[in-house]
Amino acid sequence: MLWLKAFHIFFVVSWFAGLFYLPRIFVNHAMAEEQAVRDRLKLMERKLYKFVTPIGALAVITGLWLWFAYDFTGGWLHVKTTLVAGLVVYHFYCGHLLKVFAEDRNTRSHVWFRFFNEVPVLVLLAVLILVEVQPF
Ligand code: HEM
Repeated sequence: MLWLKAFHIFFVVSWFAGLFYLPRIFVNHAMAEEQAVRDRLKLMERKLYKFVTPIGALAVITGLWLWFAYDFTGGWLHVKTTLVAGLVVYHFYCGHLLKVFAEDRNTRSHVWFRFFNEVPVLVLLAVLILVEVQPF
């Protein structure tokens, strides 16, 4: 089980690298005025999303594997999984925003993206408290 947990944490950390960085690129993209800069950011967004999507899937798969193979129980795991489901929705919404930027159709301000960028930070904190403290 410890090998599986080690890989689970590895995929989680790698997924979060993308969940933190992609919205940060959106902040810069929303501020970019030159087309050349926008085109460069589109390429970065596309490559990062393509790279981090399978890693996110592996974070969830190894988590579910831990849950069902080792019979973990507790309300903490249900709340954690619900929060992770929210993260998956956030991830795919980033995929939608990526398409909006690719077609130069973004209307949201960089300030909106700065708040949007903080969502995974709050979820990470909540999930870590749940999995380490297991309060219920
Ligand atoms: C559906 C998705 C997920 C499920 C079902 C799941 C389930 C689990 C389970 C059963 C454990 C073992 C807990 C223990 O040893 O006490 C675990 C460990 C862990 N999970 Fe997840 N997990 C999921 C996604 C995530 C995500 C997205 C994060 C980060 C935000 C995360 C962070 C962790 C951490 C840090 C540990 C190690 C805890 C420790 O060793 O003390 N997991 N996960």
